[in-house]
Amino acid sequence: MVGGHTGLELLWAGKSDRPILVARALVEDPERSYRAPGPAAPGVTFDNRIVRGDNLHALQALQGEFAGRIRCIYIDPPFNTGQSLEHYHDGVEHSEWLGGMRDRLELARALLAADGSLFVHIDDNELGYFIVLLDEIFGRKNRLSVATFKQSSVSGPKARNPGLVSTTNFILYYAKDRAAWRPNRVYVRIPRDKRYASWIGNFSAPHSEWRLIPLRQALAARHGVEPRDLKQRFGEGGLEQAFEEFVLAEPERVVQLARVLPKDVNRAAREVLEASRIVPDRIHRSPRADLDDYYFMNGKQVLFYAAKTRLVDGRRATGQALSTLWDDLLSNNIHNEGGVRFTKGKKPEALIKRVLELSTAPGDWVLDSFAGSGTTGAVAQKMGRRWILVESGDQCETHVVPRLRSVIDGTDRSGVTQVVGWEGGGGFRFYRLAAPASAPDGR
Ligand SMILES: C[S@@+](CC[C@H](N)C(=O)[O-])C[C@H]1O[C@@H](n2cnc3c(N)ncnc32)[C@H](O)[C@@H]1O
Repeated sequence: MVGGHTGLELLWAGKSDRPILVARALVEDPERSYRAPGPAAPGVTFDNRIVRGDNLHALQALQGEFAGRIRCIYIDPPFNTGQSLEHYHDGVEHSEWLGGMRDRLELARALLAADGSLFVHIDDNELGYFIVLLDEIFGRKNRLSVATFKQSSVSGPKARNPGLVSTTNFILYYAKDRAAWRPNRVYVRIPRDKRYASWIGNFSAPHSEWRLIPLRQALAARHGVEPRDLKQRFGEGGLEQAFEEFVLAEPERVVQLARVLPKDVNRAAREVLEASRIVPDRIHRSPRADLDDYYFMNGKQVLFYAAKTRLVDGRRATGQALSTLWDDLLSNNIHNEGGVRFTKGKKPEALIKRVLELSTAPGDWVLDSFAGSGTTGAVAQKMGRRWILVESGDQCETHVVPRLRSVIDGTDRSGVTQVVGWEGGGGFRFYRLAAPASAPDGR
């Protein structure tokens, strides 16, 4: 029990049994370590680690160097669905599964920095138990969110099963210490808001002389056509794209008039709002000290599209704060990401990018102790984070190593490569766990 007792407890057979952890060193296998030739480009990381072995022992072995230093842990453990999958077995007795996860998460927690975050990817098989378990280890007050990730659609053989078709997984998000936690603000791209349908024609004039014209008319004038010919000029799909580009190029000129109640604005603004009713068809301004000024017209508030735009992936877009519903990340091309096939386990690079954007900065340490095909390491490398991957199966050598080599070589152009502007570089060291005195090998 680490996170502070709440009087509630999940019990399972064998809960009080603890593994005896014998100290095991990490031994580098230089044949498998890899480094891009040439000097390090700024923001490219070399000091990364791949560890082949059971993560229980690896997490223990990492304590000496990394306790309190990891900024973000993302894990995607076997969901305990009872299936035997191509690369790993996914079904152990529930108590055994819970005990194993508890032992590993306690070690993981010790590796986290005071301002660090944990993300656990899970489906509904163990979801309820896992939340209670993590509340016990991290403290309920440090549970930040449970995000829902849309990982498939209603199609294929499972759509014929009776009952609800499962299309979602969950991401449990915990802070090591909520008081020290400093998340980044993340925005997602959303479609253009069509209620902003007016354009300030003479924007360089004083605001009291501004003339509003329909956005459609302004777009048509920009392209030298009549408004009625816009559809013909751009085609059905192309027209919306043209609107979007037009609006995002000068969002401070795109507005809508919205109802506002006098009680919702300060006293000075109330008078200006009233004046806008009395002197119509003119824009009236009420200045504010620390916030954007109010603008009113005809008893309504003038809202500017600029307030709806955010930088998303380095480009101005219509943006919205990230919510707990992650239904925009499903990738049709996930099978090809990283150039390795990892049926049923591989997660989209865009998902890991989102996790790292939320919780880390360039140079921070990221850990994934259920590495699978190495998605977390690949994305961390592309985003200039330092990373540690642990994987016990053969995929550590057949998938993780070649995937990370191609990221470093710059030949992996899949996943988030383009959007983060990754060109290659960096390196990693490959380690195995030294055998304890009594065991025949290091696995
Ligand atoms: C669902 S997969 C992770 C997939 C990964 N997120 C990706 O995108 O490729 C879970 C992985 O955890 C590994 N694993 C399970 N138990 C482990 C253990 N005790 N130590 C290390 N790895 C383990 C499995 O071999 C499997 O590759």
